[in-house]
Amino acid sequence: MGIETVLVIGAGTMGRGIAYCSALAGYKTILEDVSQPMVEQGLDYIRRAFDEGIARGKATEEQKQQSIARISTSNAIQDACRGADLIIEAVPEEMETKLEIFTILDKFAKPGAIFASNTSSLSITEMAAITFRPEYCIGMHFFNPVQKMKLLEIVCGLETSEATVAACAGAGRNMGKDVVVVRESPGFVTSRINAMIGNEAFFMLQEGVASAADIDKALKLGLNHPMGPFELVDLVGLDVRLSILQHLHRTLGEKYRPCPLLEQYVKAGRLGRKSGRGVYDYKEAGAKPKS
Ligand SMILES: NC(=O)c1ccc[n+]([C@@H]2O[C@H](COP(=O)([O-])OP(=O)(O)OC[C@H]3O[C@@H](n4cnc5c(N)ncnc54)[C@H](O)[C@@H]3O)[C@@H](O)[C@H]2O)c1
Repeated sequence: MGIETVLVIGAGTMGRGIAYCSALAGYKTILEDVSQPMVEQGLDYIRRAFDEGIARGKATEEQKQQSIARISTSNAIQDACRGADLIIEAVPEEMETKLEIFTILDKFAKPGAIFASNTSSLSITEMAAITFRPEYCIGMHFFNPVQKMKLLEIVCGLETSEATVAACAGAGRNMGKDVVVVRESPGFVTSRINAMIGNEAFFMLQEGVASAADIDKALKLGLNHPMGPFELVDLVGLDVRLSILQHLHRTLGEKYRPCPLLEQYVKAGRLGRKSGRGVYDYKEAGAKPKS
């Protein structure tokens, strides 16, 4: 399967980063979003990310100009998908929205086009089943920020073909990623392990084993984690983490039961950096995070 044109649906946190990597890899890239302001913000972000990359010696001015020239934008999936070889959706984590998109793609995309979802936890098999071409449907789970994170977790649904996996692994490598291929299972590899570590850290905090800052420090300095579990959950969002744990608890059983302290923080509106307070407090400008 030759891939020349990549369509990225959703220009939010993930979609704009995926478009950056796709254009830098040399693919003709279409960035599509229902919201025109999001498309414009996405393009701004891509320009700034290139400037940052140039400053860090990771990209050149020439690569920036050539990559940006490869990106076009759209607000209409049915038109944008017609010429695309690889379509990666990065719309919000709601099955209903993903199913709507896969239905439109099935109707308007060309035969042989690959439909990939950037979902962090939902079933690829369920998305594939709404189409008449499940063998072309797959998960391409990128990480945030996409242009800096090395991993691409490829997720195979029940009917995903070997050829689809090979084409997406090749595209991922062209985008500078190291690839792992996993069979569909709740939370895949990364979200499942990360949710467990984060939940255990909350149980320790609840039991008074150590302070949040010391638990973070212990994992960073003792286990070489780049971020502590509480720093990370504040970045991801406590509500997001709770919903992943609830999904794992429903599908995989008792050991994924969310820690009551995490549930309590979410009820209190302590959602992390985005709400000004999570495990740590970010309200005072310039203040150091504190629990
Ligand atoms: N944020 C992360 O750290 C992260 C990491 C890995 C995977 N993911 C997954 O990536 C996906 C996107 O997450 P995000 O954080 O980028 O979301 P986001 O909310 O930042 O962006 C979603 C974008 O989709 C657009 N959108 C909504 N409905 C649409 C539609 N029908 N057609 C076209 N565009 C539409 C929105 O306008 C928005 O710009 C989710 O499935 C999420 O689970 C997120």
